[in-house]
Amino acid sequence: MEQEQVRLEEERALQDIESAKDETSLESAYNAHLAKKGALSALMAQMGKMEKESRAAFGKAINEAKQKVIALYEQKKAELAKKKLEEKLKKEKIDVTLPAKAKRIGRINPYYQIIDEVSEIFLDMGYEIVEGRDVESDRFNFELLNVPKDHPARDMQDTFYIGNGVDLLLRTQTSAAQAHTMLEKEVKTPIRMISPGKAYRRDDDDMTHSHQFAQIEGLVVDHDISLANLKATLELFAKKMFGEKREIRLRSSYFPFTEPSVEVDVSCFNCQGKGCPMCKHTGWIEILGAGMVNPKVLEMCGYDPKEWSGFAFGVGVERVAMLKYGIDDIRRLYQNDIRFLKDYVGK
Ligand code: PHE
Repeated sequence: MEQEQVRLEEERALQDIESAKDETSLESAYNAHLAKKGALSALMAQMGKMEKESRAAFGKAINEAKQKVIALYEQKKAELAKKKLEEKLKKEKIDVTLPAKAKRIGRINPYYQIIDEVSEIFLDMGYEIVEGRDVESDRFNFELLNVPKDHPARDMQDTFYIGNGVDLLLRTQTSAAQAHTMLEKEVKTPIRMISPGKAYRRDDDDMTHSHQFAQIEGLVVDHDISLANLKATLELFAKKMFGEKREIRLRSSYFPFTEPSVEVDVSCFNCQGKGCPMCKHTGWIEILGAGMVNPKVLEMCGYDPKEWSGFAFGVGVERVAMLKYGIDDIRRLYQNDIRFLKDYVGK
């Protein structure tokens, strides 16, 4: 009778364990049959009330049943763990046949591309690159460039002043680097330099102007430098920058720090000089301001004008970029939109 009880319980336990589909149902089968309060332990408790003779046989039967149930439980546990791992591996399998995500490669902004191109051209001609500073004193931005206080030329370059009563401002022109370069030379030696950098003006922002823009300043100081040297240099620059067939023309102009001063036009690279909307039907496009360094500037910067002469020029980076790449709105140069960069760079 008792033996039969054990057999039945063993059967139930084996069935429960066998049919467990996951770890949770296996654990509840364990709790129901094998744990301290499980059915097999409950049978053990009956032993106390039994006759001595049948007790031993009953205990043996329970132990044997327990061994079998435990063995099946361990086997099932290992099976379920294996199954779980296999499912996980299946789910996380990397499909090597999937097409790879295309990598987007960045481009150099036309703004920097122009600076690089211009720098390259002048480096080839033996110029050095000088770093200027964005925050300048009134002395370097204006006074040493022959723009004394109250000079009307200041109005055109109204800017951002910094500090209380301190003469600091965001430079309005990279020309400030001219004075630095000349004054920094303890022994006055010839100079051939360009200085790319940012300049700031309180212009109204529109399609072609921005309160912050870039210029490339150029300065040559040596013995017997003439306007012919200036013209030849800038003509070579125009050809390298805009094409072999380009010509330049000089129109007289005014800058306080050059005398004489000129605006330099390049023959239109869009219509080859025939006339088109880009050159406003004149065949010529203005690209930079230039001139012979004003003797007053040479003198203020420690170069004796009787001995030294020089020329200077200033190229507007955005203007050249917009012309060269046909960009209509200056703000596109600062927005870093990858679609815009992709369209324009490399053209
Ligand atoms: N600094 C002038 C400007 O910003 C350009 C220039 C530079 C003109 C050097 C002559 C010589 O308009």
